[in-house]
Amino acid sequence: MNYCVTGLQWGDEGKGKIVDILAENSDIVVRYGGGANAGHTVVVGESRFALHLLPSGSIRPGVTCVITNGVVIDPEVLINEIKRLAQENISLDGRLLISEHAHVVLDYHKREDQLREESLGKNKIGTTIRGIGPCYADKVGRSFAVRMADFIDLENLRTKLLTIVQNKNKIFGALYSSEPLDADEIFEKCKTYAEKLVPFITDTTEFLHRSIAEGKTILFEGAQGSLLDIDHGTFPFVTSSNSSSLGMPAGCGVPAKYVDKFIGVVKAYTTRVGAGPFPSEQDNETGQYIRDKGHEYGTTTGRPRRCGWFDAVAASYSAKIGAIDSIALLHLDTLAGLKELKICRAYKINGREVTFFPANITRLSQAEPVYITVPGWDENITEVKNFGDLPANARDYICRVEEVIGKPIDIIGVGPKRNQTIFRK
Ligand code: GDP
Ligand code: IMO
Ligand code: MG
Repeated sequence: MNYCVTGLQWGDEGKGKIVDILAENSDIVVRYGGGANAGHTVVVGESRFALHLLPSGSIRPGVTCVITNGVVIDPEVLINEIKRLAQENISLDGRLLISEHAHVVLDYHKREDQLREESLGKNKIGTTIRGIGPCYADKVGRSFAVRMADFIDLENLRTKLLTIVQNKNKIFGALYSSEPLDADEIFEKCKTYAEKLVPFITDTTEFLHRSIAEGKTILFEGAQGSLLDIDHGTFPFVTSSNSSSLGMPAGCGVPAKYVDKFIGVVKAYTTRVGAGPFPSEQDNETGQYIRDKGHEYGTTTGRPRRCGWFDAVAASYSAKIGAIDSIALLHLDTLAGLKELKICRAYKINGREVTFFPANITRLSQAEPVYITVPGWDENITEVKNFGDLPANARDYICRVEEVIGKPIDIIGVGPKRNQTIFRK
């Protein structure tokens, strides 16, 4: 069975945990999109790993990890991640493959991300400042792009960087009066990146198709969430890639028909980092309760996450565009202690009830949530292993969510650790 795991909200749903669990029975884990804007947390015993670029299967020694063409790679972050795993005696030698076609995030991308956000003031997107947007823009623009394959021909890269940095300096100087960047300095850094990363660079599309022919089990790991998808999310408050499962085939060269099961990950509530409309947001005591209890602070930037009730309109939209077969609902434990819980089952927009998520932010900003209210529970459920042993109100909550999104919830998270997971099937 080949699985694809994606987030159905605005990111941070707990994809890292689910991928790490499913990786136990996978030969290969593929990260196919996004960049170091992602922060996927894997908790193993007392160790906590925050992975930004390495697939979340990399903690499992027998798994082959592939970073494909759709990813934008910040080499510094990747090298540090490889080092961090080595500190825990986890080696990636011989089991990490990086696409020659993946684009490279360099200093000028991060500089541009920061300068642009600063210049926008209160209209900023609230990006992670990891250079994601500018790097994808260079990819689509083609003329100033650097790909992993460029690390194999350093003389050519030096020439390329001179032109690129000259061009960037003109733009940054004119628009932001920014100090010029030094092309030689960037090139020197690239030389050290090349030394460490060239051994991993290969044709990952060829590898994946060979692996499929050999009957290997592949797990595709999405980054960000479907509502941050550049085409189908809440534009412009999105990331710069197709972060729903629609991005998987183009992001790795494997058609979606090779995936046997699309798994959508949600939290038992909703969170969002950065700006943009969020109809079920609870900017109040309830939101703060969830933030404190669920440790809702960004894995990548440490920013407090905005918290709100479960939005079934949003989740079922994501499930539709993502062809989702099965849902993993995490952080059920975080809701314990709330007297009442709400599930947003529809929006009211200009007096009309709407159940198909309007990704158009003008309409979304006008949406008033229509809630189902259900009773909460007080019991600590972090040690519960079977669905039947959950408090009746927790079971009812799951069934209500399942009903409104119309997809089965087969995995339930009751804590960050691997064994704090309930499988219903
Ligand atoms: P990702 O980006 O989708 O991989 O999610 P993040 O790692 O950014 O955020 C999810 C956070 O929730 C991490 O700190 C996880 O360790 C934690 N987590 C995952 N599942 C559960 C759960 O069921 N309960 C609790 N309390 N924490 C969880
Ligand atoms: P994971 O994979 C949550 C958000 C940013 C911002 C918007 C654009 O951990 O779920 P970008 O830096 O991509 O240009 O920022 O997207 N964002 C995320 N939010 N989790 C993520 O990744 C995110 N990656 C980007 O906060 O609102
Ligand atoms: Mg995250």
